[in-house]
Amino acid sequence: MTNTIGKFYKVTTFGESHGKAIGLVIDGCPSGLTISKKYINDQIKRRKTGSSRYVTQRLERDKVNFLSGIYKKKTTGTPIGIIIYNNNSISKDYLNIKNYFRPGHADLTYYFKYKIRDYKGGGRSSARTTVAIVLAGSIAKKTLKDFFNIEVFCYLSNIHNYFLDFKILKLTNIRNFYSPDLKHKKKIKNIIIDSMKESDSLGCKLSVNVTGIIPGIGTPLFGKLDSNLAKNLMDLNAVKAVEIGKGFKSSKIHGSLNNDSYYKEGFLKNDCGGFLGGISTGCDIYINVYFKPTSSIFKTQNTVSKKFLEKKILIKGRHDPCVGIRAVPIIESLVSLTIIDSVLEYKSFLFF
Ligand SMILES: Cc1cc2nc3c(=O)[nH]c(=O)nc-3n(C[C@H](O)[C@H](O)[C@H](O)COP(=O)(O)O)c2cc1C
Repeated sequence: MTNTIGKFYKVTTFGESHGKAIGLVIDGCPSGLTISKKYINDQIKRRKTGSSRYVTQRLERDKVNFLSGIYKKKTTGTPIGIIIYNNNSISKDYLNIKNYFRPGHADLTYYFKYKIRDYKGGGRSSARTTVAIVLAGSIAKKTLKDFFNIEVFCYLSNIHNYFLDFKILKLTNIRNFYSPDLKHKKKIKNIIIDSMKESDSLGCKLSVNVTGIIPGIGTPLFGKLDSNLAKNLMDLNAVKAVEIGKGFKSSKIHGSLNNDSYYKEGFLKNDCGGFLGGISTGCDIYINVYFKPTSSIFKTQNTVSKKFLEKKILIKGRHDPCVGIRAVPIIESLVSLTIIDSVLEYKSFLFF
C-alpha cells in the first residue's frame, strides 16, 4: 500500500497526470483546525504550473473541492476528502513516446513492474500527483503551526553550480524562484534562460529550516524522525539525495570539529541539524534536498521501444527547466507531513 504516507496522520492519494482527477484522504487530522478556502488556494498557487515562463506551461485551474471532514471552516476530526479535476492535459504531445521509454523517466521501470504503459503525461509517475501532497501538507503545516507552534520553511539554496549565499531567510514565491535573497533573481533567471537556449535542463538544491520543534520527537529503531524525513523526501520525484545538518561534509572532518558540545545554556552549535539518535534535540532542524535536472530535455536522445529496438526520440510537451524550484512547497509539505506524524505519535506515548 504505497500510496499512503504516515501512521498517525495518514494520507492516501490517487490519480494520474492525464486522468480525470487527483484526490486524497487525510485520516488523523485533529479537530478544531481552521481551514479557509483562501489559505488552501494560496498554498496550491505556490506550486502552480504555468505561473511564469521558467516553469512548465501546463495551465491547470487547480480548483479544490472539499468532500468531507470540514464544517464551518473547521476540521471535524473525521477523514478529510479532497478532489481536484485535471482540465489541461494535452495527451497528443505524448503520442510519439507511446511505445518508447523516455530517458531519465520512470517509463521503463513502471513497464518492467506493471507491464502496462500509461504514456500520457507520465501517468502516476508524473509530478502532477504532487498537488495532492501540497493539499495534505498545507493542512499538516497549519496543524503544526496552530497547535504546536512549529514552522517549516524551504527555499532555493543552489541552482546548477551557482551557490546562493543569503543573509536573511525571507519567505518568497515562485516568481522570485523561492530565493531568500532577491539579489540573486537576475542571475538565476539567466542561468535558466541559458540552459533553455541549449534545450537542456538544470538540477538544484533546496534547504529546509524547521523551528519550534520540542526535544524528544522520533522513535528508534525504525521510526527515527531523521530517517523518516529522508525516506519521505526521497519519495518525491527527481530527489537524488537528502542531507541532515552538516551531512556529507561531516564525513570529511574530525569528530572534535563535528561534535556539538553541551553547555549549561544548551548547544552552542547545531551541526547535527537537530537530531541525535533519530530523536529531535529541540534545536532547529536543517535539511538539504538535492534534485537532478529535469529528464525531459528537447534534444535528440537514444532510447528503446517496448520490443527493445533502438530509436532516436525528441521529447515534446511542457516541462519544467529545473524541477526543484517548483518543489519548494512540496518539500515543505512532505516535511510537515512527516513531522506532524511523529508529533502525534509522541503525544500518544505520553503516559507519565
Ligand atoms: C515539482 C516537479 C516537477 C517536475 N516536472 C517535470 C517535468 O516538467 N518534466 C520532466 O521530465 N520531469 C519532471 N519532474 C521529474 C519527473 O517526474 C521524475 O524525474 C521522473 O518521474 C523520474 O523519477 P526519478 O527522477 O525520481 O527517478 C518533476 C518533478 C517534480 C518534483
